[in-house]
Amino acid sequence: MNVGVIGAGYVGLTTSCVLAEFGHRVLCVDKNHHKLNQLKSCEVPFYEPGLQEMLERNVKKGHLSFTNNTREAIQSSEVVFIAVGTPPLSDGSPNLTFIQQVVDEISQAIEKYTIIVTKSTVPLGTNEWMDQALTKKVKPELFDVVSNPEFLKEGTAIQDTISPDRMVIGAKNEAPVQLLKTLFSFIKAPYYVTTLTGAEMIKYASNVFLAMKISYINEISTICEAYGVDVNEVAQGIGADQRIGPAFLKSGLGYGGSCLPKDLQGLIFAATRKNINTKLLPSIAEVNDQQVDVYMKKLEEKLGSLNKKRIAVWGLSFKPNTDDIRHSPAIMLIERLKEEGADVVAYDPIVKRVNDTLFSHRDKYDVLKGADALVLATDWQSFIDADWRKVKTRLKGNVVMDCRNALQREKVTQAGMCYVANGQQRSN
Ligand code: UGA
Repeated sequence: MNVGVIGAGYVGLTTSCVLAEFGHRVLCVDKNHHKLNQLKSCEVPFYEPGLQEMLERNVKKGHLSFTNNTREAIQSSEVVFIAVGTPPLSDGSPNLTFIQQVVDEISQAIEKYTIIVTKSTVPLGTNEWMDQALTKKVKPELFDVVSNPEFLKEGTAIQDTISPDRMVIGAKNEAPVQLLKTLFSFIKAPYYVTTLTGAEMIKYASNVFLAMKISYINEISTICEAYGVDVNEVAQGIGADQRIGPAFLKSGLGYGGSCLPKDLQGLIFAATRKNINTKLLPSIAEVNDQQVDVYMKKLEEKLGSLNKKRIAVWGLSFKPNTDDIRHSPAIMLIERLKEEGADVVAYDPIVKRVNDTLFSHRDKYDVLKGADALVLATDWQSFIDADWRKVKTRLKGNVVMDCRNALQREKVTQAGMCYVANGQQRSN
């Protein structure tokens, strides 16, 4: 099929590459001049494992191309995916400017029957609004609006797109659902077909549930520590219950990224608009917001005042296997350390620079030289596999603080260092 994808972020570009890989002809639109040039020269503008190769392969085969011309993509496609950003506004509600622009462009360009599929996470009621906005300007037989939220995770975006746990489709008619099933015939997952707003809600409720699991285990972690119980064992013990499941029970610095914090705020905003006084949802964010302080306190307990202490931080991205630093708990921790007067040096395997005063050193061991403590802020596998004797020889102090409960305590202590974490027995 001929497919148009509007927006070349994580969702849009991965969707484009995967659809092209499975034989569709995809025209992907992005208005950002620099990004478009990168894509046209077969360069993925962000780090996502496997995407670079997939992009090159499909551009070469002629299955995938890029343009800034939305009109062209709409007119040449049977299905158009909207995958533009919906960044949060200052009141927590998502900014729908880009979505509104796309709807305008569709209404002006559409000539033949086209399925308009919303992949972007949009506030409850947005797809209904899009349907009504288009109905005012376009003959109803020319389009169907479908909500098809995306559940991919950065770092495993390709795998998640090819083999999702489920496909959620919100639609008003059966015909576009069947067409999407044909388009995605390579996906073997079960389909959940619902209303337009129902699909939007499934997306919000999923992300917020994940955030809730993380805040839950983080609160449990602090209680565990007070009773000398290991939270990792507790996570395994409760995760073995099929009703709970083992995923997203890793305690630590808390969740970050562009989605979980934004979608939680978005859902609270949606509830407030309907005069619903949510109790659980705000507390998810409250727990998350205090995680940096939990670790700051721990470091101060070990080192005393952090003023003029040199702290080496491993990890800048909001989680491993991505260069995304949006709402990164690692960076929030670094900012707090700096506020306390610490001299912070950082290393990240992929992120090179955050700003003029925060960038990654070239080597994960060199960055440790003269440091009073090493703080593991993002659980990249290469940090978990570190040579702890080498770490010991580089550090001036002997404190290793594991903010992701990712390291094996024995490996660190056997190398002669003091291991600090939350939700475990304290080292002396
Ligand atoms: C999240 C969802 O997991 C995806 O399903 C969804 O499609 C996506 O948002 C989106 O809405 O676009 P992502 O933002 O890539 O995906 O990141 P996650 O893998 O969910 O991780 C979020 C944060 O939670 C990270 O900071 C991670 O370190 C933290 N986390 C995760 C924990 O602290 N503990 C865990 O056990 C798991």
